[in-house]
Order: sequence, then C-alpha cells, then structure tokens
Amino acid sequence: MSFRSVFIAVTLAFALILSGFLINRARPKADTEQPTADFVRASGKCAECHARLQYSVVHEYEMSAHAKKGVNCLDCHQPGQGQEKKDHHGFVISAHLTAGNCRSCHEGIYQEFLHSRHAAPSWAAIYGEKGLTPQQVSFSEQFQPGGTRRPPHPFVTAEGGSAMVSGCEQCHAVGKPNDDGTIGSCTNCHSRHTSSVELARRPSTCAQCHMGPDHSQIEIYDESKHGVMFAAQEKLLNLKADPKTLSTRDMFVPTCATCHMSGLNGLKVTHDPSDRLGWYLADAVSTRRPNALRNQAAMKQVCSQCHTAPLIDRVYTQADQVVASTNAKVLAAKAIMDDLHKDGTLKGPPFSNPIDFTYFDLWHYDGRTSKHGAFMGGADFVQWHGNYGLLQKTVQLKQDAEVLRAANGKAATGDAHAAHP
Ligand code: HEC
Ligand code: HEC
Ligand code: HEC
Ligand code: HEC
Ligand code: HEC
Ligand code: HEC
Ligand code: HEC
Ligand code: HEC
Repeated sequence: MSFRSVFIAVTLAFALILSGFLINRARPKADTEQPTADFVRASGKCAECHARLQYSVVHEYEMSAHAKKGVNCLDCHQPGQGQEKKDHHGFVISAHLTAGNCRSCHEGIYQEFLHSRHAAPSWAAIYGEKGLTPQQVSFSEQFQPGGTRRPPHPFVTAEGGSAMVSGCEQCHAVGKPNDDGTIGSCTNCHSRHTSSVELARRPSTCAQCHMGPDHSQIEIYDESKHGVMFAAQEKLLNLKADPKTLSTRDMFVPTCATCHMSGLNGLKVTHDPSDRLGWYLADAVSTRRPNALRNQAAMKQVCSQCHTAPLIDRVYTQADQVVASTNAKVLAAKAIMDDLHKDGTLKGPPFSNPIDFTYFDLWHYDGRTSKHGAFMGGADFVQWHGNYGLLQKTVQLKQDAEVLRAANGKAATGDAHAAHP
C-alpha cells in the first residue's frame, strides 16, 4: 500500500470520527444515552413490533415527511425535558407526548403557536387561570389581552366535570398546560403520525372544532362560494405544496388555512391565526383588536392574491355594518337583562333562570353566526341562523321580562309593555 493511500485512509477515518462526534454532541442528552438514531432506523426495532401490533401507526408514519427525512420513532418518543421516563423493551420512551416533543426541531413554530389563542387562552376559556403558571399567564396576556387572566367559565360548576372532560376539553385542550411545562398539542391539526401539512390545510381538520351553532365556521364555509369551489376542484389543488413556496398555482381556491395561516405567493406563514383578524367576533359585543388595522390589511392582502380591491372592500364594508348592527341588537337585549338584575327581578347564579338561556342563545348563537357569516360568505347564516334569531329572541326576551316582573309584583317598563300590547 502506498503512503498516499494510507494518508488518505487515515484522514478520512479521522474526519468520520470527528463528524460523528460533532453530530452526536448536537443531539439531545436523552438520545445519546440510548442506541443512536441510526441504530434505531437501521434496525427498525420499534416498527418491527408495532407493525404487528398497530399496523396503522407504522403505516401512517411511513407515509410522512418525517420518514422521508429520517426522523425516526425515537426522535419523537424519547422523553423530552421534564417528561417522565419509561423503560420499554430495551428503549427509554415517554408515555405521554406533548408539543414539547415537537419543539426540539420546530422551536420557531412552537413560539408562534404560544402567542396564539389556540394556546393558553383556549384552556383558560374553560378553567380560567387554573393549571397555568403565573409566568404562562403573563406571557400569553402580552399577545392576547384578557384571553388568559379571567375566571373559570360558569358551566364548569353548572354542568360538572365529565361534561368538561368529554365535551369542552376535547376542543379546548389544543391549549392545555402539560406536566412538562409546555403548552398544548400540535397533533390536533397534524395528527400523531402523518405530520402532514396536507391534512392541516383541509377544512375538515379545522371543522373538528370549528362547527356547530356557536361557531359555525365549517357550515358557513361549505355554503360559501369558496367551499363550493373547493368541493368541485379539490383534486386539482396541490394541498401538499411546501409552505415556503406555496402559490396560487397550488391553491387557487382558499381553505380555512389559506386565509388564516398560509403564506400565499411569498406572504408570511403563521401559526397564530389571530394575526389577520380585526374584530373580536366571538364576544357578545364585538370590539376592535389592538392591531385591527394592521391585521385586516394582512387578511386583505391574502384576498388580493385572487381578487381585485373593489370586491374585497365591498365584503369588508358590508361585514363591518353587520358587526355594528349586531352589536346594537345585542346591547338592546343586554339592557333588558341588566334592568331585570337591577330591579331585583332576576336573582341567583348565572344560568339558573330560563331567560338566561334566551339571552345567551341570542348573542352566543345568533349574534356570532351573523357576524361570522358576513365575513366568510354565508348569507344563510347572516339571515336565517343569525338576524332572524336575533329578532325572534328579542321579542321573546321582552315578553318574558314582563311576565317575570308581573310574577314579582313589579310594574312593567314602557319598553316591555310595547312589545306585549
Ligand atoms: C418487543 C416489542 C416492542 C418494541 C421493540 C417496542 N414496542 Fe412499543 N409497545 C409494545 C407493546 C406490546 C406495547 C403495549 C403496551 C406495553 O406492553 O407496554 C407497546 C406500547 C407502546 C406505546 C404506548 C405506551 C403507553 O404507555 O401508552 C408506545 C408509545 C410505544 N410502544 C412506542 C414504541 C417505540 C417508540 C419503540 C421504539 C423506540 C417501541 N415502542 C418499541 C411492544 C414493543
Ligand atoms: C412526529 C412524531 C412521532 C413519530 C415520528 C412517531 N410517533 Fe408515535 N406518537 C406520537 C404522538 C404525539 C403520540 C401520542 C402520544 C400521547 O398520547 O401522548 C404517539 C403515539 C404512539 C403510539 C400509541 C398509539 C395509540 O393510539 O394508542 C404508538 C404505539 C406509537 N406512537 C408508536 C410509534 C412508532 C412505532 C413509531 C415509528 C414507526 C412512531 N410512533 C413515530 C408521535 C410520533
Ligand atoms: C428530530 C426532529 C423532529 C421532530 C422531533 C419533529 N419533527 Fe417535524 N419535521 C422534521 C423535519 C426534518 C421535517 C422536514 C422538513 C423539510 O422537509 O423541510 C419535518 C416536517 C414536519 C412537517 C411538514 C410535513 C410536510 O408535509 O411537509 C410537519 C407538519 C411536522 N414536521 C410536524 C411535527 C410535529 C407535530 C412533531 C411532534 C409531534 C414533529 N414534527 C416532531 C423534524 C422533526
Ligand atoms: C366542538 C368543539 C368545542 C367544544 C365542545 C367547546 N368549544 Fe368553546 N370554542 C370552540 C371554538 C372553535 C371556539 C372559537 C370560536 C370563535 O372564535 O369564533 C370556541 C370559543 C369559546 C369561547 C370564546 C372565546 C374565549 O376565549 O373567550 C369560550 C368562552 C368557550 N369556547 C368556552 C367553552 C366551554 C366552557 C365549553 C364547554 C361548556 C366549550 N367551549 C365547548 C370549540 C369548542
Ligand atoms: C390549528 C392547526 C394547527 C396547529 C395546532 C399546528 N399547526 Fe402546524 N401547520 C398548520 C397548517 C395549516 C400548516 C400549513 C400552512 C400552509 O398552508 O402553508 C402548518 C405547517 C406546519 C409545518 C410546516 C412548516 C414549513 O414551513 O414547512 C410544521 C413543521 C408545523 N406546522 C409544525 C407544527 C408544530 C410543531 C405545532 C405545535 C407547536 C403545530 N404545527 C401546530 C396547522 C396547525
Ligand atoms: C382541537 C380543536 C381546534 C382545531 C382542530 C382548530 N381550532 Fe381554531 N380554535 C379552537 C379554539 C378552542 C379556539 C378558541 C380559542 C379562544 O379564543 O379561547 C379557536 C380559535 C380560532 C381562531 C380565532 C382566533 C382569535 O384570535 O380569535 C381562528 C381564526 C382559528 N381558530 C382558526 C383555525 C384554523 C384555520 C384551523 C385549522 C387549520 C383551526 N382553527 C383548528 C380550536 C381548534
Ligand atoms: C376567504 C377567506 C376565509 C376563509 C376561507 C375562512 N375564513 Fe375565517 N375569517 C375570515 C375573515 C375575513 C374573518 C373576519 C376577520 C376580522 O375579524 O377582521 C374570519 C373570521 C374567523 C373567525 C372568527 C374569530 C373571532 O374573532 O371570533 C374564526 C374562528 C374563523 N374565521 C375560522 C375559520 C375556519 C375554521 C374556516 C374554515 C372552515 C375559515 N375561517 C375560513 C376569512 C376566511
Ligand atoms: C386562493 C384564492 C382566493 C382567496 C385567497 C380568496 N378567494 Fe374569494 N374566491 C376565489 C374563487 C376561485 C372564487 C370563485 C370565483 C368565480 O365565481 O369565478 C371566489 C369567490 C369569492 C366571492 C364570491 C364572488 C361572487 O360574486 O360570486 C367573494 C365575495 C369572495 N370570494 C371574497 C373573498 C374575500 C373577502 C377573501 C379574503 C378574506 C377571499 N375571497 C379570498 C378565490 C379566492
């Protein structure tokens, strides 16, 4: 063997050892204590057992971008910071995974998600500050004022624990505080093993939670021109397109994600869907958000990838008018309720009298729906599921208020009298 080939062999071997060391040093500690990632991938030990036990899990993973990029089972399943370790057939895994198991490789996205209402405010909508640390509360309040620092929802005591766990939490746990100190879960939109943007871009994914009479977004979308076009042309769209280069050539019909999250034609992608919203539409009486103008400009920029300014401005002008009119109607109904409390006709905790429900349905179903319908192309929801209900329940409230007062031996107010001649 010549000196030259020995020299090359020694240099190559040294370079390999050095690069192996450098790569390993960059890996999380829990990983280096175990068989290396390469070993797991090469042996496929996890997959070997689990393909027999739960074929679906392994198959979904095999089809994922993770499998293609060499992210293996243990990369996600190893215990992250602050997670309980569990011995498992020669490996150490965590039995319960959180957003903490994704952030190690997707830190930037985790941070954006933390700013959003899908994080702590979702959880606080049910339980208030309970379960959140003071740091988590003040962090979230910087981005979503009033979203986290608030009392538990009255339904927590009125309906009881099992209704919360199997009902509210199934949707609101997207922002649950985890034992490891992180918040929320990424798998509601990406699933555990497909980890796919295609899935997250589908309206049906958002519709797991964004449905029903109190937030009818999927129903509105399905009847809108956008939803109709999506149903007709879904197969022509490139739902798999890389988020960094997504263009209107891939998505020429918008889904929920396109308007609220995607970066079309070079716009900024976001994991904070508040970024493009101008109003607090879910509130009984809607007010403008702190960055309303900036946010609405961002949404209009999305529309303008497919539409001209006159169409966009018309939608916004008309929808702003629906918000103003709905606010006026809800405020009038609220005045009736406030008067009943003031003169002592209504007593007791929230939701202890039938009239509480009439008022709640008025703003929580009909009011919200009319506003959401106006912005997202749902005429039926502005009218028959919205304004019609607002009118009908206003008449009902006035009559019920008068009957309640009569039963309490109080004189009817002029307003209530007019509604019930
Ligand atoms: C020798 C077969 C075998 C191997 C290898 C194996 N598993 Fe398992 N795994 C099982 C069985 C059986 C169960 C059912 C529960 C149990 O016995 O722990 C299970 C359960 C699990 C669970 C559910 C645990 C829980 O507490 O809910 C996860 C997650 C899991 N395995 C992941 C992995 C990962 C990741 C690997 C590779 C690092 C792996 N498994 C390797 C057989 C195996
Ligand atoms: C992208 C991250 C990721 C990868 C890669 C991954 N998993 Fe998982 N896996 C999860 C998450 C998240 C859960 C849900 C854990 C929980 O309930 O806390 C999970 C759950 C499971 C479960 C329990 C499923 C159930 O429904 O009871 C098994 C078994 C499992 N994984 C095995 C595997 C195996 C085997 C591989 C590799 C072939 C793998 N996982 C790769 C993230 C991942
Ligand atoms: C060990 C690092 C690692 C971990 C842990 C990890 N990912 Fe990934 N993820 C990657 C890499 C690498 C890619 C491919 C990036 C690319 O192609 O640009 C990726 C891509 C993705 C994509 C885009 C897939 C597509 O269709 O283009 C999603 C979504 C995703 N990851 C979600 C998750 C979620 C959710 C978790 C936790 C349950 C997770 N990841 C955990 C490294 C990781
Ligand atoms: C089907 C899924 C689902 C269920 C079940 C559910 N929610 Fe929600 N909730 C949502 C969605 C989606 C929104 C966002 C509505 C919007 O912005 O238009 C929301 C909004 C809210 C809001 C207003 C936003 C805020 O932060 O103030 C409150 C409060 C709330 N939910 C509390 C609850 C409570 C309490 C329960 C159980 C009694 C519950 N939700 C059950 C999905 C759900
Ligand atoms: C509300 C649903 C939702 C949640 C929750 C969510 N994502 Fe996403 N994610 C999406 C959508 C939608 C896209 C695709 C955006 C687009 O169209 O370009 C995406 C894209 C991604 C991508 C690909 C980004 C790229 O540039 O290639 C990664 C990685 C990812 N998400 C990781 C995460 C992680 C990690 C979490 C948790 C911290 C998370 N996601 C939580 C909906 C969600
Ligand atoms: C697991 C349930 C769940 C899924 C899936 C989900 N969301 Fe949400 N979303 C919620 C809840 C709960 C809220 C209300 C949070 C709050 O304000 O308390 C919410 C709020 C929102 C808001 C209002 C934010 C604000 O600032 O008022 C938007 C916009 C939104 N989601 C868009 C989406 C889109 C787009 C998708 C699909 C890519 C999606 N969501 C998927 C549960 C979900
Ligand atoms: C064509 C674009 C577009 C599509 C598609 C779209 N939205 Fe919206 N969405 C909007 C606009 C515009 C608003 C109101 C913006 C504002 O407040 O300034 C809005 C408002 C919302 C809100 C209300 C937040 C609050 O203040 O209470 C939620 C939640 C929401 N959308 C979720 C969804 C979901 C889920 C889907 C799919 C089923 C969807 N959107 C489809 C444009 C869209
Ligand atoms: C990715 C492209 C895309 C985006 C983004 C988009 N739209 Fe559309 N929109 C369409 C398509 C396609 C149609 C159907 C056009 C047709 O009838 O030929 C449509 C139809 C409409 C219509 C019905 C027009 C009519 O008279 O039938 C309205 C209103 C509308 N969009 C408003 C908006 C608003 C407001 C936004 C932003 C909040 C928006 N769109 C975002 C693609 C888009």
